[in-house]
Amino acid sequence: MLFRQLFDHDTWTYTYLLADDTGNAVLIDPVVGQVEQYLRLFKELKLQLKLAIDTHVHADHITALGALRDATGCISAMGEPATAACVSRTFKDGDLLEAGKIQLRALHTPGHTDDSYSFVLESGPADRVFTGDTLFIRGSGRTDFQNGSARDLYNSLHGKLLKLPDTMWVYPGHDYKGWTVSTIGEEKQHNPRANIHPIAAFEKFMAELKLPDPKYMDVAVPANRACGKTA
Ligand SMILES: [Fe+2]
Repeated sequence: MLFRQLFDHDTWTYTYLLADDTGNAVLIDPVVGQVEQYLRLFKELKLQLKLAIDTHVHADHITALGALRDATGCISAMGEPATAACVSRTFKDGDLLEAGKIQLRALHTPGHTDDSYSFVLESGPADRVFTGDTLFIRGSGRTDFQNGSARDLYNSLHGKLLKLPDTMWVYPGHDYKGWTVSTIGEEKQHNPRANIHPIAAFEKFMAELKLPDPKYMDVAVPANRACGKTA
C-alpha cells in the first residue's frame, strides 16, 4: 500500500493519500488550494484517483472534493447527515468505502459536528484510523458549532474510537503543534480530553473553552456544502 500524509500549512490540515499496488487511490480531506499538488503527485506516482472523501463539513478550509471530481472523474463522498447535495454519494455508519483494493470502514463519530466520521483502514496492514476532527493528538475537535455536541463527542471517543486496538495508528485531521501520528493506546493514556469523566464534567469543560471562530468559517462552511465551489 502506498501512503502519504500531506499538509496544508495555511489551515494546518492533514490530507491522506492511500493507494493499492495497481495505483487505485483515495484522498481523505483534500484541500482546494492543494489540487495542483495532488494532480502532480498522481501523475508522478502513476495513480488514478477513484475516491475523495471528507471526514465532515469543514469550517476551517475549503474542500477539494468538487475540483477533484471535475479534474479526475473520481467519486466524491460525504457521510450522512451532511447537507452537501453535490457529492456523488453519501455513506453512513458501518459502510465500507472502496477504491480498488483499499477498504475503509466509515465510523460515525459525531460530536465535533453531527456529520463527523472516522475511517478505519480494513485492507492491507489494517492498522490505522483517520479520525478527522473527532480525535486529535492529545486533543479533540471543538463542539460549539455545526450541530456539535460535547455529549456526542464523549460517546464517540469512549464508545467507538478508544475501543479500537491500542496498537492502531491515529492520523488526525489537523495538528497545531507538529505531531504527525499517535496510537489509540497512547491517546487513551495521555490525551487530557480522553480522561475527563463523567460526561457532565466533559460537557462543562468543552462549554468553557470559548474559542474564537476559525478564520475561514464564514466562507468555508457554505462553500463546503457546495463541494468547494465559492460564489
Ligand atoms: Fe472541522
